[in-house]
Amino acid sequence: ESQPTAPSQSLGPEYRPATQKPTATVSKPVPHKNVHILPQTPQLIALLTMIRDKNTERADFIFYSNRIIRLLVEEGLNHLPVVGHEITTPVGRTYAGVKFEGKICGVSIMRAGESMEQGLRDCCRSVRIGKILIQRDEETAKPKLYYDKLPEDIAERWVLLLDPMLATGGSALMAIEVLKSRGVPEDHILFLNLIASPEGAKKFADHFPKVRVVTAFVDQGLDEKNYIVPGLGDFGDRFYTM
Ligand code: URA
Repeated sequence: ESQPTAPSQSLGPEYRPATQKPTATVSKPVPHKNVHILPQTPQLIALLTMIRDKNTERADFIFYSNRIIRLLVEEGLNHLPVVGHEITTPVGRTYAGVKFEGKICGVSIMRAGESMEQGLRDCCRSVRIGKILIQRDEETAKPKLYYDKLPEDIAERWVLLLDPMLATGGSALMAIEVLKSRGVPEDHILFLNLIASPEGAKKFADHFPKVRVVTAFVDQGLDEKNYIVPGLGDFGDRFYTM
């Protein structure tokens, strides 16, 4: 069986000669309209290279992950509606701008999703953040909801759902079900994710086509243990313990 080859791209500004632009593996494209992949810029690829490297130690893993998380949050916020907003500058001129109207909240899928909370707080001052704990049920081997703590008015909020790795999609899909059961409309949910598998991305597109997925990278696939490949290993372990 021939493996599908990973797309590669030469990285660097257009004006630089090709000889000065290295070739690197970039995200697979996906055909799903609700899945948005961050622009594959030299900086993003350098950050991903750091966190994928098995020799990167914990402090660096956290630092570089946080930079990617920041990019995801900023891009995610671009998907929220804004209204026109005209202001006056200190020199007395008007400026036709926009502002965000509405309430948002974060919801992290424990444990790894909690690593993305600080990045969200850095962009959205005093944002409310809820939590969902989903684990595999030992008997059925299916994902099971163990715990949730969500803002009581979550149905009136835009929800930024946080989980760094989208592998089979089992937990993330269940988290969407939980949010929907609390009255959050599907199209008010943004799923922020560092690395997705093509399988996970497709599952989202098939089950919840109105949920927008913002991811930094769609990887090659899953291995026999459902780790994303090439991936970065266990995100929670690397962020919290290793
Ligand atoms: N969760 C992880 O942390 N890593 C994977 O590769 C898949 C799921």
